Amino acid sequence: MSTVTYTDHTGQARVVEATVGDSVMETAVRNGVPGIVAECGGSLSCATCHVFVDEADLASIPPMEEMEDEMLWGAAQDREDNSRLSCQIKVTEGCDLHVTTPATQV
Ligand code: FES
Repeated sequence: MSTVTYTDHTGQARVVEATVGDSVMETAVRNGVPGIVAECGGSLSCATCHVFVDEADLASIPPMEEMEDEMLWGAAQDREDNSRLSCQIKVTEGCDLHVTTPATQV
C-alpha cells in the first residue's frame, strides 16, 4: 500500500491511500484534500500545487527538473529547500510520503 500524509499549515494531518502512478497532486485532488489548488491540472504551468516535502522523504523521490525549479520561484508562498510541485511527484509502490501544504497557493 502507498500512502501520502498531507499536513496543512495549522498542523492538521490527513493520511490518504494513494494509487501507484498518480501524482501527489492528483491524489490530493481526488480525495478532496484542501490546500492544493492545481489550477493547471498538472501541466507544470501554475505552481499552485506547491508543497513542502518532509526532510526524511526527500531522498526517496527523484530530484526536480529545471522547469519545476523555475516554476517554484512563482509560488504564492516563498519556497524553501524542501519545496516541490506536487504534480511532479509520482506515487510509487509502498511509498509513505509526508508533505505539508503552504498557508496559501494563490
Ligand atoms: S498543478 Fe500546476 S504546476 Fe502543478
